[in-house]
Amino acid sequence: MSDTSMRAVVQQTLGGSEVLSVQQVSRPEPLPTEVLVKVYAAGVNPVDWKTRAGGGMAGVLGEPPFTLGWDVSGVVEKVGFGVTSWQEGDEVYGMPWFPRAAGGYAEYVTAPARQFARKPSSVSHEQAAAVPLAALTAWQVLVDTAHVQAGRRVLIHAAAGGVGHLAVQFARHLGAHVIGTARSSRHEWLTKLGADELVDYTAVRFEDAVTDVDVVVDLIGDLHENTSTRSLEVLRPGGLLVAVPAGVSPELAVAAEAKGIRVTPFLVEPDGPALTAIGALIDNGEVVVEVEEVFALEQAADAHERGEANRTRGKLVLRVAS
Ligand SMILES: NC(=O)c1ccc[n+]([C@@H]2O[C@H](COP(=O)([O-])OP(=O)(O)OC[C@H]3O[C@@H](n4cnc5c(N)ncnc54)[C@H](OP(=O)(O)O)[C@@H]3O)[C@@H](O)[C@H]2O)c1
Repeated sequence: MSDTSMRAVVQQTLGGSEVLSVQQVSRPEPLPTEVLVKVYAAGVNPVDWKTRAGGGMAGVLGEPPFTLGWDVSGVVEKVGFGVTSWQEGDEVYGMPWFPRAAGGYAEYVTAPARQFARKPSSVSHEQAAAVPLAALTAWQVLVDTAHVQAGRRVLIHAAAGGVGHLAVQFARHLGAHVIGTARSSRHEWLTKLGADELVDYTAVRFEDAVTDVDVVVDLIGDLHENTSTRSLEVLRPGGLLVAVPAGVSPELAVAAEAKGIRVTPFLVEPDGPALTAIGALIDNGEVVVEVEEVFALEQAADAHERGEANRTRGKLVLRVAS
């Protein structure tokens, strides 16, 4: 392969997983303050398949062709003018550019140097690539948005998913009483990760089993069985519901206000320093990232289909180089 081209998953139109194909495209060049990263692995997130089909961040990316993917783990290949934080050969991971296009499903990405952090040294590139978007979401919700402190009661919906299983561990790290919703086959694993109480949402209505919650990390939304609106029933007055996916009822804010509950939308942001803190928790063994399966770059469509089934335990990842 030439120095000026690379393999990338490209889509020419919006649509189903069949629009994804590996093509030869131009390799990007870092501008001043940017780094060129050789990607070893790219994480797969629900926003990827939503965007592929015209939802998610499609409005930000504009018309195809484009390359999906925000989570990357790799090695700095080249630094742009003025970069002092990284050198060629450094192992880094990050979620650059979000919500603008990052083109993570590719052999190389360029992005602002400070949107990366040093890759946690105790894990593989595949595991590291599973971390950024899910972990930054969990971290920015619990730490920066909800300011969770020891003793707070935190309910995490979809605790077994990519964001959820990391949120369980961060909430435990913060000293919270951690409650999660997940099917019963996930309970033993989530208890080991730090959940104090688990509700099998397929058997029990969570609002019949949970009470006096300070913070709901809502990773489901009202589109699925009015989960956001039903969550108001478990929150105490003064509590906070962080609505992570788009799709809450237009009446939610009014209903919450009537109960003295706060509701906020949320969108994750690139954050190198938070990834450094998260990487330290991974390297000291306090936080583990669960990767359900690693797919080849050519299997991006299979990875999307798996994710869209909405049963993923932890994360899905694409291997780009080895
Ligand atoms: N706004 C933002 O910045 C932002 C950032 C990240 C993610 N998100 C959104 O947040 C959502 C979650 O993301 P994710 O990456 O964690 O997704 P994910 O990994 O694909 O979630 C899959 C998990 O959802 C669980 N699940 C499905 N339906 C459920 C229900 N009704 N109740 C409880 N659990 C249920 C499944 O667990 P079981 O096997 O137990 O059923 C599965 O483990 C997505 O909609 C994503 O787009 C938004």
